[in-house]
Amino acid sequence: MRARLVAGNWKMHGSLVANARLLDALKAGLKQAEGLGYAVCAPFPYLAQVSEALSGSPIAWGAQNVSEHDSGAYTGEVSGPMLREFGCRFAIVGHSERRGLFKESDKTVAAKFSAAQRAGLTPILCAGETLEQRERGETENVVGRQLDAVLDAAGVAALANAVLAYEPVWAIGTGRNATPQQAQDVHAFIRSRVGARDRRLAGNVTILYGGSVKPENARELFAKPDVDGGLIGGASLMAEDFIAICAAARR
Ligand code: 13P
Repeated sequence: MRARLVAGNWKMHGSLVANARLLDALKAGLKQAEGLGYAVCAPFPYLAQVSEALSGSPIAWGAQNVSEHDSGAYTGEVSGPMLREFGCRFAIVGHSERRGLFKESDKTVAAKFSAAQRAGLTPILCAGETLEQRERGETENVVGRQLDAVLDAAGVAALANAVLAYEPVWAIGTGRNATPQQAQDVHAFIRSRVGARDRRLAGNVTILYGGSVKPENARELFAKPDVDGGLIGGASLMAEDFIAICAAARR
């Protein structure tokens, strides 16, 4: 059976005090579950706090971004080896906010994906279309291109240690989630795109859905055969909601 995962993306939220409260509640509320992993992706400065709080718990942690370089004169950047020193298991790459607001190209995203893997991190590679692209019928073109850029650069075998996430841009932070069927359609497309290169890996790769996942819609989304869990923004900041979403991902 494919591994399932629910990962929180805190984005640029949090404080030492608020994080401590959230992490305590997550530790109390999330118990080891067969075939299901949990993670939180925190802002860089809080990774030490997160690592201290979550060590020995069933909750993994990660970063929301990573440099494509391993070290050097890159002011303001944070490398994969640095993230590993703080116990990160994951690094999100290619989030639509990085692509859109910070102009990260497919090529940069592919370089970050490989940099994360070089450091021993598991990249969570995000892909997704904007509303205009969906309305023009370009969803598969856009998602396929974003995926191919990484598979061409890293090779399909790299997916043995990666997680994919479908995050339609129009569903992020809008309260408007994709319907379970819309999510399933794109997840199945992603799996078949990977399957054209390697069928076995396509069957094994975990594909998360992200975009306005809430306790109220999580179960239905996660019930779809190609949806293996979620990448959760806003609702990951509220312990009760995140715990309920995790419970909805249990088989
Ligand atoms: P929301 O859950 O706030 O819509 O954010 C989704 C997301 O971008 C997770 O990476």
